[in-house]
Amino acid sequence: MVAGSTDEVRGAMSARLVAGQKALVTGANSGIGRATAIALGRAGADVVVNYVAGEDEAEQVVAEIKGFGVRAYAHQADVSDEAQVVGMVARMVEEFGTIDILVANAGLQRDAPSVEMTLAQWQKVIDVNLTGQFLCAREAVKEFVRRGVVPEVSRSAGKIVCMSSVHQIVPWAGHVNYASSKGGVGMMMETLAQELAPQGIRVNAVAPGAIRTPINRSAWDTPEAESDLLRLIPYRRVGEPEDIANAVVAVASDLLDYVVGATLYVDGGMTLFPGFATGG
Ligand code: BGC
Repeated sequence: MVAGSTDEVRGAMSARLVAGQKALVTGANSGIGRATAIALGRAGADVVVNYVAGEDEAEQVVAEIKGFGVRAYAHQADVSDEAQVVGMVARMVEEFGTIDILVANAGLQRDAPSVEMTLAQWQKVIDVNLTGQFLCAREAVKEFVRRGVVPEVSRSAGKIVCMSSVHQIVPWAGHVNYASSKGGVGMMMETLAQELAPQGIRVNAVAPGAIRTPINRSAWDTPEAESDLLRLIPYRRVGEPEDIANAVVAVASDLLDYVVGATLYVDGGMTLFPGFATGG
């Protein structure tokens, strides 16, 4: 490693921030989930790498995490299936003893103009992006409440980080299912945070902007598309999965223990109404 390199800075900043904690990351075989699972492992957590499809990718993430000297395994489950979510958290409690951190990340898009959107497209996105986060949160909270605070591990009885989006607050034509799901995630997160904070549980959201992942490949994979996209990003770079992973580690760690019910936008300024930089 080159002294002062980005890797070194990253390594130093996330060093053991969540040492000994047990983390579940949904949708961790690719994109933001993958980077987050790896960052949590680097920061000292044992990690369950959830995936629904993409077993090989998930196993590669597991191998990379084990390289940090922590434990990890892959678990296939559809977060929108109640029984599978219950089984996933139950197995985690069996294998790792408990859960300290849930990153409710799994999400997808099924884009269509509103008048052409099928009920199946609407339902699928709501089921995975919103109901899936609720089910995972509910199961994690049962264990947080059962176990309570273990001061040597964390000041909190448990942390939930909901993966939201700038579309929690930014309307998005052609994506009414997705934007509605993320708006829902914002309100779900705040309601859970209000309800659970008295029990020492912290619920927050991280809201990414445009991050270079498979979900939005068409928005950045040609120079023309990327330059269009950059007009929406005051900081003038497309985000990388690690930008989000670092934010999640910080929010989940005791460094940000007093952050409760917050949405952290990690978006290069996308939510700053960039159209108004020259107009209005
Ligand atoms: C979406 C991406 C999109 C980004 C910014 C994300 O939540 O999944 O497809 O590029 O928001 O619009």
